Amino acid sequence: MSSSFIERARSVLAANDRGGYTVPTDRLYPFQWNWDSAFVAMGFATFDIDRALSELEALARGQWADGMIPQIIFHKPAETYFPGPDVWRTSHTIPTSGITQPPVFALALEFIAARAGAEFTPRIAALYRAGLAYHRWWEKARDPEGRGIVAVLHNWETGRDNSPEWDEPFARVPQTTTTTIVRRDLGHVDAAMRPRDEDYRRYIHLVDLYASLGWDAMAMWRETPFKVADIGINAILGASEEALGRLAKRFGSEAERAEIASRRARLAKGLAGLWNERIGLYASRDLISGKAMDVRVSAGFLPLLTEHCPPEARQSMQQRLDGLLKANTLPVPSTLVGEPGFEPKRYWRGPVWAVVNYLIARGFARQGMGEQAREVDEATLGAIREVGFCEYFDPLTREGLGGGTFSWTAAIALLISEDRMALAA
Ligand code: DGY
Repeated sequence: MSSSFIERARSVLAANDRGGYTVPTDRLYPFQWNWDSAFVAMGFATFDIDRALSELEALARGQWADGMIPQIIFHKPAETYFPGPDVWRTSHTIPTSGITQPPVFALALEFIAARAGAEFTPRIAALYRAGLAYHRWWEKARDPEGRGIVAVLHNWETGRDNSPEWDEPFARVPQTTTTTIVRRDLGHVDAAMRPRDEDYRRYIHLVDLYASLGWDAMAMWRETPFKVADIGINAILGASEEALGRLAKRFGSEAERAEIASRRARLAKGLAGLWNERIGLYASRDLISGKAMDVRVSAGFLPLLTEHCPPEARQSMQQRLDGLLKANTLPVPSTLVGEPGFEPKRYWRGPVWAVVNYLIARGFARQGMGEQAREVDEATLGAIREVGFCEYFDPLTREGLGGGTFSWTAAIALLISEDRMALAA
């Protein structure tokens, strides 16, 4: 891998560094985002452990007393994003949004811990405690009825805001708001690549509702019209519980190891129930109607990351990936080509995202399918080299879309490059 490519990836992280934390990209996303920063921390860990830990520490500074690590932490004011702290109306000392995002935190911490020297042990131990509190929050606040799968209460929590998976459950959310909506995102990115106005009315309806409930987790659980077991979050949480369990061997107590093992086992069982025979992939479930979302999306591959992934599921996912490669489609479209909701340029309705690809490739590798892992990594890296560190890619034309110079795309470029160099060595 050429050193100038690696230098360019590092310079994206440097340009988006706001002093101890990184914004996803300038102007469009001018604050710290939860899962973006977890990937960015891993990217930093390829060359600077101290800076990698700072990224997670900045996230932990936004952690709520109940353990939730918020989706957005508003460390410093900025005018280029909506909705800002005045819309969220939460009460944390550093202003934050009131919802969370996919829990990549423990995966990132384990990745950093594996390469950190002894001088970093106290900082890693403190972050282990933040991760433990976060996973306890997921169980308590998002699986209070003990199903073994956790729910999200807002599309923004999934990170895949406008995926066609949410079309049906989201239609239940009214479009009325008490907040004036100002689409600042459209000042930075073409409207055809972003969610629609009606989506925003529903996103903000949910924010208004939860703010009126004082962001009380149990009241939100009771009152929400949107409660979905997202396949992406459940798979990532499953993999993260495994990572936390390994970290607990170094930093936790016997009781904590047992607690993590029991959550892990429950999640593995819960994930088994999200396998969807009809579409040959894992799928999210609407917990209000009880219906499985019969939509093929890239997140449906993510249970490959976990201990729960039986041979028939592995085989089916391998066939799907082969099909994409044969059709000369850039793998893996966020919504698979041919699905009714597929739109090649609109955010999570089709475009390829480097971070999801990275996780899918790690999943194939974990399941012993090294060839598939390599194919996905090569495709991801090829697209980034060709087009740049953009937010997402059109799976049909490979065009770069959304925001430019994206931190997590640069982080993934560093991570895959490092793996390739290790293989070549
Ligand atoms: C946005 O504002 O577009 C984000 O996806 C929310 O996390």
